[in-house]
Amino acid sequence: MDLFRKKPLIAPSNSGATKLNKTLGALDLTMLGVGAIIGTGIFVMTGVAAAEHAGPGLVISFLLAAFACVLSALCYSEFASAIPVSGSAYAYSYVAFGELLAWILGWDLVLEYGVAAAAVSSGWSGYLQGLLEGFGIHIIPTALSGAYNAEAGTFINLPAVIIILLISYLLTRGTKETARFNAIMVVIKIAVVLLFIVTGFFYVKPENWTPFLPFGYQGVVNGAATVFFAYIGFDALSTAAEEVKQPQRDLPIGIISSLAICSVLYILVSLVLTGIIPYTDLNVSDPVSYALRVVNQDMIAGLISVGAIAGMTTVLLVMLFGQTRLIFAISRDGLLPRGLSKINAKTLTPIRSTWMVGIIIAVLTGFIPLDRLANLTSIGTLFAFFVVSLGVIALRYIHPNMKRGFRVPWVPFIPLLSAATCGFLMYNLGSETWIGFLIWTGLGLLIYFLYGYRNSKLNHK
Ligand code: ALA
Repeated sequence: MDLFRKKPLIAPSNSGATKLNKTLGALDLTMLGVGAIIGTGIFVMTGVAAAEHAGPGLVISFLLAAFACVLSALCYSEFASAIPVSGSAYAYSYVAFGELLAWILGWDLVLEYGVAAAAVSSGWSGYLQGLLEGFGIHIIPTALSGAYNAEAGTFINLPAVIIILLISYLLTRGTKETARFNAIMVVIKIAVVLLFIVTGFFYVKPENWTPFLPFGYQGVVNGAATVFFAYIGFDALSTAAEEVKQPQRDLPIGIISSLAICSVLYILVSLVLTGIIPYTDLNVSDPVSYALRVVNQDMIAGLISVGAIAGMTTVLLVMLFGQTRLIFAISRDGLLPRGLSKINAKTLTPIRSTWMVGIIIAVLTGFIPLDRLANLTSIGTLFAFFVVSLGVIALRYIHPNMKRGFRVPWVPFIPLLSAATCGFLMYNLGSETWIGFLIWTGLGLLIYFLYGYRNSKLNHK
C-alpha cells in the first residue's frame, strides 16, 4: 500500500468535460479575496472577542492573527504560482507530500468551507432580521427565523437556507457572472467599513482604551485565535487557479493585496470600535452597528447593517465557490466519486457538485445553530496553513528547479515561523474544537481507506 504516492508536476488535462473557463485577472482576484475575507468575523465576532477575551487589546489580537496570515499568504502565493491548479492546499500537498496527507487536507478544507458558509449564512440571516425589525417589519414567523431550538420556538432558519440556495444558483451560472456580482458587493462592503471608521473616529473616547489589557496576555492570544476567523478567505482564492488568465503572476498579487487591504481595515475598525463604547458592552450580535446606535447615529448604523449583509453575501459566495472547486479537484483525482467533477458544457461550471454542496450546507444552516462552529472553521484552516507552510520547504527540496512566479523570501525561516504561529493559534482553540476536528479527520481517514485509496486515479496508473 503506497500512502505517499505523489502526483507528478503537470497541469491536469485541460480538455473535454473537465475544463474550466479562464476569465479571471489580478483585479478580479483581489476583489474575490476581499469578498471572501470581510464578513462575519469583523461584523459579528469582534464583539465577543473584545468583551470576553481581549478587551481594547483586540487590536493586538488582530495584529497577531494578521501576522500568521501574512506569513501563510506568502507560502500560499509560492504554491499558487508554481502549481496553478484547482484545489488549493489539497493540490499542493498532493505534489509535495503525497496522497494521504493531501486527502486529509482536502477533507479538512471541505469542512472549513462548509462550516464557514453555514455559520456565515446564520449571521447573514440575523443581520437581515435585525434590519427588518429596525423598520418595524416582521414578515418571518418565529418558527422559521432560527435554527432548531425548542425553548426559543424556532424550527428552521429559513432566510439562511434561501440565501445559500440563491448563491448556489448564481454559481451555476458561470464564473464571470459570479465575479461581476461579487465586485459590486465588495465595493459596497468596503464603503461601509470606511464609513464606520470615519464616523466612529469622532466618537472615540480614549478613556475607553484603559485598562488596555483587562484579560492580560492570554486574553489577547485567545482573542487572536477567535478573530483569526475574520481573515479566512484569501486561501480560497487559490482554489480558482484554473480560471485565472495568468495564474503565476495574478494569484500572488490577488492573495497578498486582498489580505493587506483587509488587515489595515480590521486594525482601524478594532481601534475605533473599542474606543466608542466600553468593551464590556460589545457582546451583541451586531457590534459594529450597535456602537453607532449608542452614539445616536442610527441612520449610519442602518447603512452599515445593509453593507454588512452585502459583505456576508460575498463571503458566502467565495466559500461556496471554493468548496465546489475543491470537490471538483478531489473527485477528478478519483478520491471522491467522478460524477462530481463533470462540467456543464454551456455554463462551464461544475453544476452537479455546486448543487450538492449548496443543499448540504442549506440543511446544516437551516437546522443546526452554528455560531460555535466558527472555531471549527478556524482550526481546519490553521491546519491547512500549517501544512502549506511546511510544504513550501518540502517542494524546494523535491523540485528545486521548477518555475515559480513568486518565491517566499528566507526559506526555511519564514515558512517555519508561519507553521509555528499557526500551530500556536491552533493550540489556543480549546478542547471542544479539537475534539470536533479529530472526529472529522477520523471520518475522513475511514472514507479514504474504504473508497479513495482504491478509486484514486494514481491507483490505475
Ligand atoms: N473571513 C470570513 C468572515 O469573516 C470567513 O466572514
